[in-house]
Amino acid sequence: MLITALTQKIEWIANRSRLFYLLTNLYYKNIIKREVRLAEIKPSDQILCIGGGPCPYTAIMLHRLTGAAVTVVDNSAACVKQSAKLIKRLGLERAIRIVCCEGEEIDCEGFTVIHLALQVSPKGKVLKNLLARAGSGVKILVRLPKECLKGCYCGLESCPFPCQRYVEHTPFTNVGNTALYIKEGLYGEAQA
Ligand SMILES: C[S@@+](CC[C@H](N)C(=O)[O-])C[C@H]1O[C@@H](n2cnc3c(N)ncnc32)[C@H](O)[C@@H]1O
Repeated sequence: MLITALTQKIEWIANRSRLFYLLTNLYYKNIIKREVRLAEIKPSDQILCIGGGPCPYTAIMLHRLTGAAVTVVDNSAACVKQSAKLIKRLGLERAIRIVCCEGEEIDCEGFTVIHLALQVSPKGKVLKNLLARAGSGVKILVRLPKECLKGCYCGLESCPFPCQRYVEHTPFTNVGNTALYIKEGLYGEAQA
């Protein structure tokens, strides 16, 4: 998608420029603080972020705000290579792991909180994979675009579980809201 390519380009610059990194980080900071409160993330949580890009701001901020360990996956090998270098430069390689994988295929067993970036596509397939493999009680945060930008991002057609609650973001971001889904028991069995 065009918007994903554009976001990756911006993040590519941010990966190499400290000033640009700090400025772009401001865009994400309050969004992520609201998401931490929404999912009540604790230091003992194991977080999986799907879609980290060249600058995995969400993963870095989630770790810094909560102390929880984070694994980031992205399906672009170039983004993974670049973001791994950034994580090393920041001295966070023990807390944040970067993996190249499709969100539709990732084995999310053992994770207690899963986060889907706004640009993840196809969201429905990725969510289906996560719900089939995740343990009961796993919290899944899904960033969704604001109404006027729905055509620019992949939407989430349906989810077998109701959205537990969601948080709305400010008008200054492309993210309209973040929805929280909690996996209840028997999803795997019901699908089998
Ligand atoms: C540009 S980043 C933006 C996220 C932002 N850096 C953050 O920390 O929240 C979004 C990334 O999602 C990745 N992506 C999109 N769909 C994906 C999928 N199905 N599986 C894995 N990664 C995906 C893209 O390759 C892109 O690099």
